[in-house]
Amino acid sequence: SRSINLAVIPGDGIGQEVVAQGLKVLNAVLPQDVKLETKEFDFGAKRYHATGETLTDADVEELKQHDAILLGAIGDPSVPSGVLERGFLLKLRFLFDHHVNLRPSKLLPGVATPLKGQPEIDFIVVREGTEGPYTGNGGSIRTGTPHEVATEVSVNTAFGVERVVRDAFARAQARPRKKLTLVHKNNVLAYAGHLWTNVFNQVAKEFPEVTTDYIHVDAATIYLVTDPGRFDVIVTDNLFGDIITDLAAAVSGGIGVAASGNINPSREFPSMFEPVHGSAPDIAGQGKADPSATVLSVGLLLRHLGYEAEAARIEEAVSADLAERGETVRSTEQIGDALAVRVAR
Ligand code: IPM
Ligand code: MN
Repeated sequence: SRSINLAVIPGDGIGQEVVAQGLKVLNAVLPQDVKLETKEFDFGAKRYHATGETLTDADVEELKQHDAILLGAIGDPSVPSGVLERGFLLKLRFLFDHHVNLRPSKLLPGVATPLKGQPEIDFIVVREGTEGPYTGNGGSIRTGTPHEVATEVSVNTAFGVERVVRDAFARAQARPRKKLTLVHKNNVLAYAGHLWTNVFNQVAKEFPEVTTDYIHVDAATIYLVTDPGRFDVIVTDNLFGDIITDLAAAVSGGIGVAASGNINPSREFPSMFEPVHGSAPDIAGQGKADPSATVLSVGLLLRHLGYEAEAARIEEAVSADLAERGETVRSTEQIGDALAVRVAR
């Protein structure tokens, strides 16, 4: 019989609230014969204040025993900036080799966008997750003086670029429009730009059905606002991907519905699924957070584990719920309940 061994990390702030709803919907959508086992982990600000730890070696070993990880949000104003980001989130992405950071953007019917008209938006961003300027390769001299020099080196390996570009081509190939856009800045970033462009063009030869395109990252931010319909699949580096996916979320319904997957396609280590939004301490504990992004992340998790039909049911449920919602204000729990009812049908 089938089983899912899931690590659950609610984290800080609204993470607790949205993850509870994500689990509710997961339980409702899974067929009877699938045995779901969950183990909750207490990472985040509380644990950090109590123990000074963000993620120990023993934690990592324990997380490895799971098929996937569901994460709410980690972060709190009481913890110095960067501690949990680097000590927890980025550490896990690197240790578990989450090189495909998958972030879909789809403007669903009835969902408000700040863009004019109701443009067609349906693309996915494949953001590289283990390299670029995120590796911590850099340093500072004469620190704190007027003569301080700081470097933050962007690391790009042929191996790392090729595997994520190949993944993006495969995803483009599987979509109706079969179009892949490389987003970079190869007019300025000569070395990394060359590597990305070269690898992209090489791998393209293996995917003759995929239409390819290249756009500089600054121009891409314009098109994301003026002509988002031109995008189908985007592949880009870690930092560019971070920035453009926030913009992508903003134009396609906001971070209340933006889902993401930190994926290790080889399944050597568990992949981690999380809403793009943060812990939102300003509204935490008030039942105001929209759990839809987390529920959609559960959908990505199910698809990754091979539960395609269930993933599709989740997407249909969120879509129908958003279309019906209108101006009605509902609590986190009410939205979770409504989605659980829909996916169980
Ligand atoms: C994200 C976040 C993280 C990132 C931060 C919190 C380290 O912004 O998941 O997009 O930059 O990747
Ligand atoms: Mn980000």
